[in-house]
Amino acid sequence: MASPILPIRELPGHVGAEVTIRGWVTKSRRKGKIAFLVLRDGSGLCQAVASVRDVDEATFALMDALEQEASVRVTGIVRADERSPGGVELGLRTLEVVGRSGDYPITPKEHGIEFLLDHRHLHLRHRRPWAIMRVRHEIEQACRDFMYERDFVLFDSPILTPAACEGTSTLFETDYFGEPAYLSQSGQLYLEPAAMAHDRVYCFGPTFRAEKSKTRRHLTEFWMLEPEVTWIDLDGVMQLAEELLGYIVARVLDRRAEELRVLERDTARLESVVPPFPRLSYDEAAEILVRPENVEKARRQNAPPFTPGDDLGAADETILGEMHDRPLMIHRYPTAVKAFYMEPDPERADRALCVDVIAPEGYGEIIGGSMRIHDPELLEQRIREHGLPAEAFRWYLDIRRFGTVPHGGFGMGLERVVAWICGAHHLREVIPYPRTIQRLYP
Ligand code: 4AD
Ligand code: MG
Repeated sequence: MASPILPIRELPGHVGAEVTIRGWVTKSRRKGKIAFLVLRDGSGLCQAVASVRDVDEATFALMDALEQEASVRVTGIVRADERSPGGVELGLRTLEVVGRSGDYPITPKEHGIEFLLDHRHLHLRHRRPWAIMRVRHEIEQACRDFMYERDFVLFDSPILTPAACEGTSTLFETDYFGEPAYLSQSGQLYLEPAAMAHDRVYCFGPTFRAEKSKTRRHLTEFWMLEPEVTWIDLDGVMQLAEELLGYIVARVLDRRAEELRVLERDTARLESVVPPFPRLSYDEAAEILVRPENVEKARRQNAPPFTPGDDLGAADETILGEMHDRPLMIHRYPTAVKAFYMEPDPERADRALCVDVIAPEGYGEIIGGSMRIHDPELLEQRIREHGLPAEAFRWYLDIRRFGTVPHGGFGMGLERVVAWICGAHHLREVIPYPRTIQRLYP
């Protein structure tokens, strides 16, 4: 009878049995009369071992000659082995090569990040990207589950759009049968009408920004989770944001412990991420940033000094974020530095009912959200003040003309959250095929 084909992860349950595994060679080595292969499949790693006495001469020679990433079918006996991953190794009996691997470019020596990104299609097989993509997958699933459990309706927004949502300076323009069209910067404008139909909606998809800034926090194509809710207030928006982040972190800690171990993530720093999160108004944050010790901190990072009234820069976010062991929610920024659609604070018209959630450990803004202007005249005025083309927003104004209600929501940058949870320095590591100002390949 043929031996059962198993994923590597399941080997520990089959000690003593003969099994077949299918995968790739990550290492081969020989020590005198014993040859070793470290094998990898989608589920994990294991070591296969044979001595000259166990196999024929050709197999023994082949074990030694196989290149990194050659694909193989291997049959052998599962043996308990304390020192091996999962506590087992495979006593190799037969070895069938499916595909040789010539001069595989990513060798065990250190490579620069640009080299690895040029070979992203191959690098994805390696341990660190493997772990990061699984954490990303878990976070995406957690987002969908969270939204589903809370009765949010998934509402896909379009990618090709006639108008800007988040400012005209980062629009990607394409030719749409002779008319300009823009790749979506956010699904928000399309979710607001959907919220009027379903009360609680969300979209989760790719968004695009022609970011000219080369920073570790910016991609030109990134994914955003965007909930939108009717009859909510700013406190409700903040509560939804902290519950979502708490849910995501708990889920990854629970289900992706192995991946976090591969990434050498200090999980103690994630265990504290439990709501409620600290909240600061922009004005309170500004008061902290102008303290001499913080002015000095910004200067040491070569960052421009913070001026009250301005938007927070990356260094300012880092300084504030590092003061807390969980995400920090900064609310009520000056309307002048925020998007056209944000509702002004009724207590102070030059402040917007908005919130940015800043991750700890220097990962910056992971969520941006607000209440939306629901008064038609004010919204029209803001569209004009921001120099936006009124015609392209006619439909958006209809939402205020026909049964307007208070509503709000936010956008969570998926890659910012994945980078923070994985402890990855740069966003380009946490999206399968990163797109930045300098990269459109592979
Ligand atoms: O703060 P932003 O610009 O908000 C919006 O787009 C709203 N329309 C969302 C809404 O209310 N429905 O972007 C939201 C989040 C940011 O907090 C950040 O995490 C992420 O998207 N983000 C980026 N991530 C990677 N690369 C970029 N270039 C990003 N720009 C924003
Ligand atoms: Mg923002």
